[in-house]
Amino acid sequence: MTATAHNAPSVRGRVVIFDDEIAMGRILVKALGMEGFEAQAFTNPVEGLAALGGLQADVLLTDIRMPGMDGMQVLERMGRDYPDVPVLILTAYGTVEGAVSAMQAGAFNYITKPFQQSNLVAQIERAIEHRRMTQANIRLSEHLAEGAAPREIIGRSAAIQRVRQMIERTAPTMSSVLITGRSGVGKELVARAIHAQSPRRARPFVAINCPSISPGLIESEMFGYERGAFTGADRSKMGLVELAQGGTLFLDEIAELPGDIQVKLLRLLQEREIQRVGGLKQIRVDLRLVAATNRDLTAEMAAGRFREDLYYRINVVNIEIPDLSERVEDIPLLAVHFLERMSRRLRRSGLRLTPAVLASLTAYSWPGNVRELENILERAVVLSPTPEIDVADVFPSGDPATARAPPSSTPAPPVPAWPIDYHEARLRFEREYLRHLLERAGNITRAAQLSGISRRNLYDKLEKAGLADDLIRKK
Ligand SMILES: Nc1ncnc2c1ncn2[C@@H]1O[C@H](COP(=O)(O)OP(=O)(O)OP(=O)(O)O)[C@@H](O)[C@H]1O
Ligand SMILES: [Mg+2]
Repeated sequence: MTATAHNAPSVRGRVVIFDDEIAMGRILVKALGMEGFEAQAFTNPVEGLAALGGLQADVLLTDIRMPGMDGMQVLERMGRDYPDVPVLILTAYGTVEGAVSAMQAGAFNYITKPFQQSNLVAQIERAIEHRRMTQANIRLSEHLAEGAAPREIIGRSAAIQRVRQMIERTAPTMSSVLITGRSGVGKELVARAIHAQSPRRARPFVAINCPSISPGLIESEMFGYERGAFTGADRSKMGLVELAQGGTLFLDEIAELPGDIQVKLLRLLQEREIQRVGGLKQIRVDLRLVAATNRDLTAEMAAGRFREDLYYRINVVNIEIPDLSERVEDIPLLAVHFLERMSRRLRRSGLRLTPAVLASLTAYSWPGNVRELENILERAVVLSPTPEIDVADVFPSGDPATARAPPSSTPAPPVPAWPIDYHEARLRFEREYLRHLLERAGNITRAAQLSGISRRNLYDKLEKAGLADDLIRKK
């Protein structure tokens, strides 16, 4: 299980309010504050939505009629950007119709104005409880899914056999392991395998992705803090290191760890003790450290960015995972493995790779390593209307096996980054899919048969994607 930091506020919950009436916002903030909630009101929902990302709201309370953006639009944006934050609609008595359509649009519930404080609080509590339950469920199912099947390390190259052997040998020990290799080679997979094969397997595996925690927070996230350590620390909190008690601590991208944290980590490895921020007590921790990096730590040391003493502590055993292009014989095995997994996950039977595509996969240079292989195959399977995956599905912009120039002088064009906006991404996906479908099918009747979309529906989609003209040209 990947542990992330959770706020354990002593407040009952964080409520954000959108209401264009200043007085109403004030009343709500005050009333909720007295009930032990942390509340913040915005008269302008556009500003409120912009601020929401940083507020860690548990519930949103919104008016329906507001200038600039109405409650329905707020609901739509919430569904898109913050699907796990429940929305309660505030509505003036007598306009319940609006509330009903809001419920249909995904609101958690509605409250009529004037409201009774007790009812308001009860509704908020229910919404928060609902959110906690869903979050706990998600976390639990992730945990179960991982517990059920530790992922297998696929490959028969000498390099991978050596990696498997190193895992077997080091897993039973307490030695710190440093896993090195470029992006996407399988460093985290190996770290999890070490834990899964160790006597600590029943204890937690806590992964910390060092660059993802802001430098200002990393100490308290990792080592925890005592009550009163800083403003807002109204109770003490255990850090991720303590959460790994008895188990394995995985520090991913360890080269990114700030200097002062490197010192604290060194102390932890030497003394097997930590101190929480603002604490005096020494807390004993029993953990096994596995670290990973895609940087050259020797160069980082030479540049004065990584401590030498720490380096020797974490690098007791070094497992180096070579690039996928250096173990070509693993490519077909991995490809088949990923295809089987996708076929189970997407419930698409009979997925297979043509011999030509296997040749192309082996010829490609794989700068993104195994992760790239996994992603490219997933995209090919999703976009391919037939179960047979061919070269054009995997390499739409040219077959690496028949590329004239050597791959070093003509790197494969990068796959364009997906837009972050869900609707834009979906539009782009649909368009790419439809174009591909048409190319494969040749005409709309066949395209409808292959895709399982009705002809009428397909035509609408093509028109929306601006591809209907292609169809006429094709005819
Ligand atoms: N030998 C392998 N067998 C099966 N799956 C693999 C293998 N190597 C990598 N994978 C899969 O490829 C993906 C990338 O692996 P992983 O996240 O472990 O790489 P990483 O080295 O940590 O990458 P990054 O540096 O980008 O964090 C994962 O989905 C992983 O399960
Ligand atoms: Mg990783």
